[in-house]
Amino acid sequence: MAYGCWRIADTEELGRSVGRAAILAAYEAGYTLFDHADIYCGGRAEKTFGDVLREVSGMRASVLIATKCGIRLAGEPRPEAPFRYDFSAAHIVWSCEQSLRRLGVATIDLFQLHRPDWLMNPAEVAAAFAQLRQQGKVREFGVSNFRPAQLTVLQRALDFPLVVNQVEISLANLSTFIDGTLDQCLAERVTPMAWSPLAGGLLADGARRLLPSQEKYRVERVGLELDELARVRGSPRGTLALAWLLKHPAGIVPIVGSTKPEKIREGALAPQVELSREEWYRLLESARGERLP
Ligand SMILES: NC(=O)c1ccc[n+]([C@@H]2O[C@H](COP(=O)([O-])OP(=O)(O)OC[C@H]3O[C@@H](n4cnc5c(N)ncnc54)[C@H](OP(=O)(O)O)[C@@H]3O)[C@@H](O)[C@H]2O)c1
Repeated sequence: MAYGCWRIADTEELGRSVGRAAILAAYEAGYTLFDHADIYCGGRAEKTFGDVLREVSGMRASVLIATKCGIRLAGEPRPEAPFRYDFSAAHIVWSCEQSLRRLGVATIDLFQLHRPDWLMNPAEVAAAFAQLRQQGKVREFGVSNFRPAQLTVLQRALDFPLVVNQVEISLANLSTFIDGTLDQCLAERVTPMAWSPLAGGLLADGARRLLPSQEKYRVERVGLELDELARVRGSPRGTLALAWLLKHPAGIVPIVGSTKPEKIREGALAPQVELSREEWYRLLESARGERLP
């Protein structure tokens, strides 16, 4: 199970209180992979995590740190710069070095490209990755929100495997089941990491903040089915929605994003829930809103 640090430090003060408590709860509940990005909370997510790492003896050696680069916010580095994606070698290397500094570590375990850059030059990305790997700054590389063909294009330019495609997968967004993403993960042994596995909370106790693309999600039917299953199995619906992802043979790693220790602990129980094929399909059918053909 992975814990996602996107929401942990909206302000510095929240990072020190809510964020610190969330990271400690996730670590103590047995999450071993922590997901970041250079842009999460304007860099405060990585900084908060680095502070906890320094505080907790032995923690660095027992967790994997993932982060991302490639999104550049509007106004950076000059006020007139637009929001954009940037997979130039210079930006990839610079971003990695800034993340290492904020995290206070020598090596990032998994470095991912956040969203496909429309101008991606695979050879240039490959050169940046090779440099970071050779310098010991990154152990493994992955991508995020890549379509299968985009992953293939980049993989062909690399001498080492891309190990992760981090994509949105949940009972509210089934697109990776039908667009070839999960098939490619199975075929190429790429691990799918599932972001927003609870659709930002819609599949559990409700959403606090959704991405614009998630505002159109309709989860009433699948919500009723989750409620019924929760009654039968005696597990919270969020835990069941995570267990639904874990049953897929591609080895989906859900990234739990709650900032509340009790919900983080609830998520950690998902691997103990084995759904039957019948339960899995009942949830699929209600999520689709229609019978399978
Ligand atoms: N690669 C990408 O493009 C991308 C995009 C988005 C996210 N991500 C990654 O994915 C991670 C998870 O995304 P996410 O935060 O949207 O995931 P999520 O687990 O689907 O949603 C978490 C949200 O749901 C709420 N929630 C309500 N009931 C809950 C329950 N019973 N259990 C857990 N949460 C509940 C949480 O609120 P409370 O905090 O109040 O519990 C939180 O706001 C992020 O931290 C980030 O690492 C990556």
